[in-house]
Amino acid sequence: MDLPNVEISLSTIDTERWGVQSARARNVLSSNLSKALQFCEEHSVKFLTARCPTSELKSAQDMEQAGFQLMDTLVYYSRKLDAVTIPEDTGQVLIRPVRSGDEDQVRSVASDSFKGYFGHYHADPRLNRKDCDDTYTSWAYRSCISRDVADEVLIADMNGDVAGFATLRLNSPEECEGVLFGVAPSAQGKGIYRSFMIQAMHWGIAQGRTRMIVSTQVNNIAVQKVWTRVGFEPSSSYYTFHKWFD
Ligand SMILES: CC(C)(COP(=O)(O)OP(=O)(O)OC[C@H]1O[C@@H](n2cnc3c(N)ncnc32)[C@H](O)[C@@H]1OP(=O)(O)O)[C@@H](O)C(=O)NCCC(=O)NCCS
Repeated sequence: MDLPNVEISLSTIDTERWGVQSARARNVLSSNLSKALQFCEEHSVKFLTARCPTSELKSAQDMEQAGFQLMDTLVYYSRKLDAVTIPEDTGQVLIRPVRSGDEDQVRSVASDSFKGYFGHYHADPRLNRKDCDDTYTSWAYRSCISRDVADEVLIADMNGDVAGFATLRLNSPEECEGVLFGVAPSAQGKGIYRSFMIQAMHWGIAQGRTRMIVSTQVNNIAVQKVWTRVGFEPSSSYYTFHKWFD
C-alpha cells in the first residue's frame, strides 16, 4: 500500500487552547518518525497529536518506544452518493440549514451532548476535563459562524428550538464529509441522527459530490450502527497518539 509522507504543522488552535506550543501530524510511520520529531525540536513543540494508520502496527510500536501514548482509534466510513439510492428519511423532526441566531443554542447542545465525551483530548489525563469538553463546544460554535470551519451546518428544529446539529464540509470536487454531530440528551433516541445522515447525503448530492465520508472513535457504537443502516462501509482507521516533550 502506498502511504503518503508525514504531514506535520504547528497548531494555532491547540497552542491557544492548551497554552503550550502544539503541533499535529498525520501519517506518522517508522520511516518518517525521526523527521516528525526533528520538526518538533526545531519548532520547540511541547505537545504533539499524531495519527498513524492502524495497518502500520510496527510504526505504532515504534511511536510507543519513542514516548507516544495511545489516546484513541478513529474509524472512517464512506458511501457512494451516485448510483446508490438514499434511504427515505422517516424522521419526525424538521432538519434545516443553520440560520443566524442559532449559534448560541448550537453551542449549548454541543456542551450538553459532548460532556465527558471519549475523544483523544479527554483520554489525556494531562488535559483539563472542562477544557476538553470546550473543544467540541467551540468547534460547533465556530462551525456556525465561519465557512473556514464548516461549509454547512444542519439543525434539528423541534418547535423552534435547536435539538441537534450536524456540521458538514466539502473536501474535494468529489467528496463531502459529515464532521461533528450532536443531539441534545433530551432528544436522543428519536432517530434525529439518522435523519441528519440522510439529509447530509442529500446536501452532498446537491453540492455535486459523489462520495461522503464520516469518522468517529471505534467505540462510538451508536453512530456506526446508523452508518451501516444507511449504506456506509468501513474504509480506513487511524491510531491517535499524544507526545509531550518535557
Ligand atoms: C450519537 C448521537 C448523535 C446519536 O443521536 P440520536 O439522535 O440519539 O441517534 P438515533 O436516535 O438516530 O439512534 C441511533 C442509534 O444509536 C442508539 N443510541 C443513541 N444514543 C446512544 C447512546 N448514548 N449510547 C448507545 N447507543 C445510543 C439508538 O438507540 C439507536 O440504535 P437503535 O435503533 O438500535 O436503538 C447522540 O447520542 C450524541 O449526540 N452523542 C454524543 C456526541 C456524539 O457521539 N456525536 C457523534 C460523533 S461526532
